[in-house]
Amino acid sequence: MLVFATSDKGGTGRSVTSCNIAYRLSLSGRNVAYVDFDFGSPTAGALFEIGSIERGISTEPGTHVSGVHNYLLGRNGSPARVDVASNTDRTELKRTTQRAGRLVLLPGDEGGAEFLTCDEEMVERCVELLAALDQEFRVVVVDLSAGRSVALEIALKATIQPALRRRTARWLIFHRWTRQHVLAAAGLVHGPNGFLEAGVEYGHTDAELLGSVRFVRTAVPTTVSYLSADHPAQSTWLLEQDAALRRLATANRLGTTSVLGATPVEPVLQWREQLVLDSDVNAHIAKAETTQAYIELARRLVDDTAWEML
Ligand SMILES: Nc1ncnc2c1ncn2[C@@H]1O[C@H](COP(=O)(O)OP(=O)(O)O)[C@@H](O)[C@H]1O
Ligand SMILES: [Mg+2]
Repeated sequence: MLVFATSDKGGTGRSVTSCNIAYRLSLSGRNVAYVDFDFGSPTAGALFEIGSIERGISTEPGTHVSGVHNYLLGRNGSPARVDVASNTDRTELKRTTQRAGRLVLLPGDEGGAEFLTCDEEMVERCVELLAALDQEFRVVVVDLSAGRSVALEIALKATIQPALRRRTARWLIFHRWTRQHVLAAAGLVHGPNGFLEAGVEYGHTDAELLGSVRFVRTAVPTTVSYLSADHPAQSTWLLEQDAALRRLATANRLGTTSVLGATPVEPVLQWREQLVLDSDVNAHIAKAETTQAYIELARRLVDDTAWEML
């Protein structure tokens, strides 16, 4: 299964949430590949705490090892693969991934910039890469650059090619729980030159794309936190805002039937971008609700019944 992660804005929690979902899928025994297609900001190395590729892979002179950015440009025959279990600097992550399904990162390139245009050869290379990964891994998570990016264009054009057309592709749109983010996410999917319009132009059908897209709300304050606000007036105001946001989301086709799930505000992630491990919860550093949210998102993503039920 191919899973594309995108968002209209940067800073939505797309990469952090996608990495945590990928980790949870690997813990459930699945072999998972994580492909960093966020060309301007390849952060996956940092999230998996692999110090040598924190900001993407840097091409060493004389070697031909480089990341997916260079691969798409035809500068290497195949992009580097980094096994998380054997390369992470975080002991607890190493320990848990060693006993799980394979978790392999295909990093971006350090200093690689966003693509300005997409040509046929790039699409062909993308098809070849994703088709091979999809054969080898149960789940392939592709973290795309934000907005109406060339990364999104490549992914939409690749998935309509014969080699990928019949494979399962799911699209996750990440957004924060604020007015601007709700409207931005709706605009990216339904708006002019958005995901649906562009996808149809490249040969997808509206119905097929709509059936394969779900929204993920990130860093949503919990009702408990509203009720325990400093003053009753503040609680009332917060609850009203939440209700207004729900109405706004529904009116913009981001209602509950199109939402895969939500993550709560996690103090650890407000301070530091990382995977939230069970050991963080056991040490009372992270909230149990956070890991529960990732487990639930991972489950709904790969369970066909749960996915269709939404
Ligand atoms: N559930 C959460 N609670 C609090 N902060 C979060 C949560 N999820 C993500 N973040 C933080 O939001 C910021 C943006 O996340 P990131 O994944 O880098 O966004 P994107 O990939 O969309 O640009 C990071 O500092 C991250 O740690
Ligand atoms: Mg990111």
